[in-house]
Amino acid sequence: MTTIGILGTGRMGVRLARMLAQAGQTVILGSRQIDRARQIVQGLEQATLSAGTYAEAANADVILPAMFLRDGMLETLEPLRPQFDGKIYLDISNPFNDTYTDFILPWDTSGAEQIQHRFPKTRVVGAFKNVWWEVFDAPHFGESVSDVFVVSDDADAKATVLKLVENTPFRYIDAGRLANARTIERMTLLSGELGQRYGYFPRMNYKLMGETWTPGHRDRLAPLLASVADSGYELGVV
Ligand SMILES: NC(=O)c1ccc[n+]([C@@H]2O[C@H](COP(=O)([O-])OP(=O)(O)OC[C@H]3O[C@@H](n4cnc5c(N)ncnc54)[C@H](OP(=O)(O)O)[C@@H]3O)[C@@H](O)[C@H]2O)c1
Repeated sequence: MTTIGILGTGRMGVRLARMLAQAGQTVILGSRQIDRARQIVQGLEQATLSAGTYAEAANADVILPAMFLRDGMLETLEPLRPQFDGKIYLDISNPFNDTYTDFILPWDTSGAEQIQHRFPKTRVVGAFKNVWWEVFDAPHFGESVSDVFVVSDDADAKATVLKLVENTPFRYIDAGRLANARTIERMTLLSGELGQRYGYFPRMNYKLMGETWTPGHRDRLAPLLASVADSGYELGVV
């Protein structure tokens, strides 16, 4: 049995704890204030969910800190470093500033990479970065499930996470290497702005639309463009 330790009882921590416990996982919800965690756990009424301190949550097999980088997350986690070594670190962070108008990190890095750099012995897997908190309360959009992009440089860690989230109400997309978190985190910045503009906030998420295809298949303009003199355009070649 793989246990999951969530550190932080804010909007995301509580909802991820509930969702993962409902999916049958054993979860420890950790807080700086143990009484707060206990009361939340009592209210959530999930058999496989228990309350703890951060240190107790960090004893789990998979750790999931649910706090903000801007609030000193890396420094808060520093004393727990020995407990993190060798474990999967499920990273949900977006490096927002205090006003949610921009990120505190430059474009050539991401929260996920900063965490991997700070805790090099952990196996960082990024996920849930685009899922705004209230989406967890009603995850379906009509008939549709929305996507969670999952990134990591550790294929086994990514596979373990994908197994842990089975039976949760999202579609999980293998989004490749950890550095892709640069794009994915900034997609949250964009969805936040768009959500406010169109009155969706905080109930929006991404879904990749697509179908199996071969490049050039049913390219209706290929004959026309191939017939144009000196176009250099070949049928079926992109
Ligand atoms: N909100 C979203 O929709 C959303 C979506 C995707 C990803 N995320 C990411 O998820 C993480 C958590 O977001 P959130 O919205 O759940 O945050 P939040 O509601 O502000 O909760 C953060 C939690 O972090 C803990 N914490 C530890 N040190 C803290 C400090 N110095 N100041 C304040 N809180 C501190 C607290 O838990 P205890 O008091 O129990 O210790 C607090 O409840 C962030 O990295 C965020 O980017 C958020």
